[in-house]
Amino acid sequence: MTVFRALRVHQVEKSFEHRFEHLELEDLSAGEVVIRVAYSSLNFKDALAVTGKSRIMRSMPRVAGIDLSGTVESSDDPVCRPGDEVLVTGCNIGELLDGGLSEIARVPAAAVVPLPPGLSLYEAMALGTAGFTAGLGVRRMLENHQHPEQGPIVVTGPTGGVGSIAIQILKSAGFEVVALTGKKAEAEEYLRLLGADEVLDRNELDLGSKPLEAARFGGAVDNLGGQTLAGLTRNIRQWGNIASIGLAQSHELNTTVMPFILRGVSLLGINSVEVPRPWRLDVWKQLAGPWKPARLDRIVRRTISLDEVPDACAELMAASVQGRYVVRIGG
Ligand SMILES: NC(=O)c1ccc[n+]([C@@H]2O[C@H](COP(=O)([O-])OP(=O)(O)OC[C@H]3O[C@@H](n4cnc5c(N)ncnc54)[C@H](OP(=O)(O)O)[C@@H]3O)[C@@H](O)[C@H]2O)c1
Repeated sequence: MTVFRALRVHQVEKSFEHRFEHLELEDLSAGEVVIRVAYSSLNFKDALAVTGKSRIMRSMPRVAGIDLSGTVESSDDPVCRPGDEVLVTGCNIGELLDGGLSEIARVPAAAVVPLPPGLSLYEAMALGTAGFTAGLGVRRMLENHQHPEQGPIVVTGPTGGVGSIAIQILKSAGFEVVALTGKKAEAEEYLRLLGADEVLDRNELDLGSKPLEAARFGGAVDNLGGQTLAGLTRNIRQWGNIASIGLAQSHELNTTVMPFILRGVSLLGINSVEVPRPWRLDVWKQLAGPWKPARLDRIVRRTISLDEVPDACAELMAASVQGRYVVRIGG
């Protein structure tokens, strides 16, 4: 019987606590594919779950980790065979199902993506959920006819995981990119290295308050929501798209319909958890090929061990950390 180590979150009365535990396969949620995990990564949701700041898990106890890469140990589904290298992001792992911060994971076959040629197991988690989400956002914009001639794409929260990868994908796709950051002084050099053509200070940029302002951007990848997203809706040119990804500033959106009905602006919702499988496979193919970030090395803040995850999660919650944590498990 295989015994393995995992980071599991428990509910204790009204609060949540994480514990390192030794588990057996039968302790995990059901699934057709058993994976020896090589790497996982830390995302905002993982930090919320592990620090117990929010009820991310919909049943407990639950192994944390919303993404993983690794090698198939056994499979009851033809989607993969023992020895195959695979990755999983979203699909409810680390929330409703047991996740990737574990030496062994068991997941539904529908969640498994064969590792695309051009990506290593490590690179897959350097990208992780953040990279997949950024790719999904850009894919939806392109499908909705965003093109470089419409003007620059503004990326908010650009020093974060999603934003820093979105900058690089947009550059690969031929767009001019404006990074709108809350920490211009410290991060301008980093953002230009990633490919930003212009770096603006969120605290200084006035996005106006009229229903329609001078439209200065072709489109946007938004990680903030709230006032910033509302301001962006007024500043997007004809037929431009805004990929609405995050709520780092607020879940609220107070704007008018004017940009949508007078400029044909589209607000595209991005949900990286439940994604039609063909889209999922296509985004990963792009991320391994033409969209593969040239500076993937620069967006990894640190590669940490499973034991270091709780401290790294606390750091993620306490401060706005620049760059991503990759978690080395068996890799
Ligand atoms: N829709 C989905 O499926 C999906 C998937 C993944 C993530 N998300 C969400 O997308 C957002 C970004 O994720 P991430 O992994 O990139 O997060 P992250 O690494 O924590 O980065 C978020 C960035 O937003 C800015 N920021 C942070 N706190 C802020 C605040 N209070 N007000 C304004 N700006 C703030 C900072 O950038 P600057 O300092 O450069 O401005 C920060 O680097 C999060 O809200 C996350 O929950 C959604």
